[in-house]
Amino acid sequence: MKLLAIVGSPRLKGNTIYLVDQALGEAAKLGVQTEKLILSQYEINPCLGHDDCATFGSCQQGDDAGWILDRFYEADGVILATPVYWYNVSAQMKVFIDRNYFPYKHDRKCRARAVGVIVVANEEAIEDTLHTLKQFIGDRFDVGADRIFIASGYADKLGEAKTNLSLVEEARKLGRQMAASLKGGG
Ligand SMILES: Cc1cc2nc3c(=O)[nH]c(=O)nc-3n(C[C@H](O)[C@H](O)[C@H](O)COP(=O)(O)O)c2cc1C
Repeated sequence: MKLLAIVGSPRLKGNTIYLVDQALGEAAKLGVQTEKLILSQYEINPCLGHDDCATFGSCQQGDDAGWILDRFYEADGVILATPVYWYNVSAQMKVFIDRNYFPYKHDRKCRARAVGVIVVANEEAIEDTLHTLKQFIGDRFDVGADRIFIASGYADKLGEAKTNLSLVEEARKLGRQMAASLKGGG
C-alpha cells in the first residue's frame, strides 16, 4: 500500500513540506508505505501544447515527468500539496498538472482510492487554489468526495506552519484519514 505525496513548494524547509511530513508521518505510523516527491528537485518542463500526445508512445519532453507520472498513476493514495502563489497553485504544481495531458490523451486514470490536498497561504486565495486542485482531481481520479481529504490554512515565514497548531493537527488528521481509507480497501 503506497501513499505518494507530490509537493509543489520549492522551499525545502518550508510550511508545505512540514505539513506534508506531518501527514505522511501519521500514515506511516499506521503501516502505510510513504514517498514524497518535491517537484522542484526534478526536471519537469511545461507542456509543449502540440496536442498530438495520442500519436506518440511517450511524451516528447522526455524529462522526469514520465516516471513521476507513472508513480502518480499507480499509487494507492496520493497527496497534492502546494503553497498559494499569486492566488493559485505554485508554478511547479501547475506544470505538473499540465503534464497530465499525456496520460489523459491515452485514456489513463489514476488508480488511487484516496486523495489528500494540502494548501498553505499567507493570507488569501485558499479557496481558488482548492478549486483548481478539486477540478484536476475530479478529472484524473475515480474517487468520491468521501475519499478526498483537505488540510488548508495560513502560514508564511519559514517554520511558521509549526506554530499554527490547528493546521498541524489538520495535516496529521489527513494522514490518518488517508491511511484508514487505504486500509479499508474499496
Ligand atoms: C511567488 C509567491 C506568491 C505568493 N502568493 C500568495 C497569494 O496569492 N496569496 C497568499 O495568501 N500567499 C501568497 N504567498 C505566500 C505563500 O503562500 C506562503 O508564504 C506559504 O507559507 C509558502 O509556503 P512554503 O513555506 O511551503 O513555501 C506567495 C508567496 C510567493 C513566494
